[in-house]
Amino acid sequence: MADYGPESDDDGTPRWTRAQASGIERSPDAVAPIVYPPDEQDAPEIHVWDTWFLRNRDGSIAEIDGYRVTFSLTAPADLLPGKRHDVATIRYFYSRDGRTWHCGGPVFEDTDEQSSASPRSTSSREDGAALGSRQWAGSALYDEDGAVYVYYTAAGERGEDELTYTQRIAVGAGGRVETTDERLSIEGPFDHEVLLEPDGDRYEREDQSRGMIYTFRDPWFFEDPETGETCLLFEANTPTQEGSDAGDGDPHHQEFNGSVGIAVSESGDPTEWELDDPLLEGVSTNQELERPHVVVRDDRYYLFLSSHEHTFAPGIEGYDALYGFVADSLRGDYEPLNGSGLVVTNPANAPFQTYSWVAYPHREELLVSSFFNYYDLRGLSLDDVAELPPEEQQRRFGGTLAPTLRLALDGTETRVLGALDHGHLPLPDEELPPLLSEYRSEDPEQSEY
Ligand code: FRU
Repeated sequence: MADYGPESDDDGTPRWTRAQASGIERSPDAVAPIVYPPDEQDAPEIHVWDTWFLRNRDGSIAEIDGYRVTFSLTAPADLLPGKRHDVATIRYFYSRDGRTWHCGGPVFEDTDEQSSASPRSTSSREDGAALGSRQWAGSALYDEDGAVYVYYTAAGERGEDELTYTQRIAVGAGGRVETTDERLSIEGPFDHEVLLEPDGDRYEREDQSRGMIYTFRDPWFFEDPETGETCLLFEANTPTQEGSDAGDGDPHHQEFNGSVGIAVSESGDPTEWELDDPLLEGVSTNQELERPHVVVRDDRYYLFLSSHEHTFAPGIEGYDALYGFVADSLRGDYEPLNGSGLVVTNPANAPFQTYSWVAYPHREELLVSSFFNYYDLRGLSLDDVAELPPEEQQRRFGGTLAPTLRLALDGTETRVLGALDHGHLPLPDEELPPLLSEYRSEDPEQSEY
């Protein structure tokens, strides 16, 4: 009889255990409504996926002369959706109403995508080039002096001929926001710097990785309201010994070793970071604990992350979903929300319709943004999709912001309440429409599209 292992590892790091994750179940409270393509798109020439707000140090959404700003990973819409990670470029968007988003362009002028599309004149930006051959997800700080810090994942090496998957946590520091009545722009130059690399001890390096693609990415700025500590959360993996097991007797499970990492800036300087021990580990449970972020509510710390069906270790049936954990302090003893950790997932008949969720507080509720991913698959897996003719792959990919979800949070329990429009990202002072009487997702077992 398999012992599923303890709820914290030898160092006391809280674990998301196999036993907990084995309870994942598509319950009506966790299933989002079905998503249909939007009537209109703000920027049809590009696909967008992972998205984050420009936020103040305290985590609130920055409001600058009536504008709010988001950043998204983007790629040209005519590129095959599965190739988008290879050319990801961070663009920024601004809005006055939280519904219509105007694209301000790439936040860093000098990206690989840009320079190959339109060779630059010999400008002085050479030193200010974004790091990596492409930039993956991150977060953005609007500091008290008006400086913009865009944290991102530098994936691969700038200028490389063949794509590599090295990941380093980097920052573009020192941008400024300018506004007129008609528009907002983010102006460089940005100083780019690698902030963190895996140490091989608490955080696995690429050469130690035995599982699927290793992870060291998705930096998320967070200032702890209780302690004032300045932190950067990120997605990582825990080094595990070949042939060992996590108390469950199966050494292969160890290869699924996702973790939520943390680094601290003692002085509060947004560019000075030291690695610290992980907040949570999913060794033997899941390989990718993506885009971790924290919401503090009633003095409790809610840690959210996204993960995939295919990154759960063998023997655990999970979904592409938002998962959550709660503790009494940032480094507390995290317990999974709703018993298993599952917070929001897609309906069984559209299991990949959205991904990459970010939760943020809105009055009594939480709002959850994500992007519109693959839909109308009629039972196809994502591997099957990659075999379809290009136009069929394109037709089934959203590449826009998804409808924002409304979520009730009560202690260790959550419940999907309903959804707003695609890309409607309200500020906390914005009144939301009345909820439809007791939203209930459609039958979670239903399997037809
Ligand atoms: C989640 C994710 C992130 C990563 C990005 C790359 O959607 O895997 O972890 O930064 O996509 O495109």
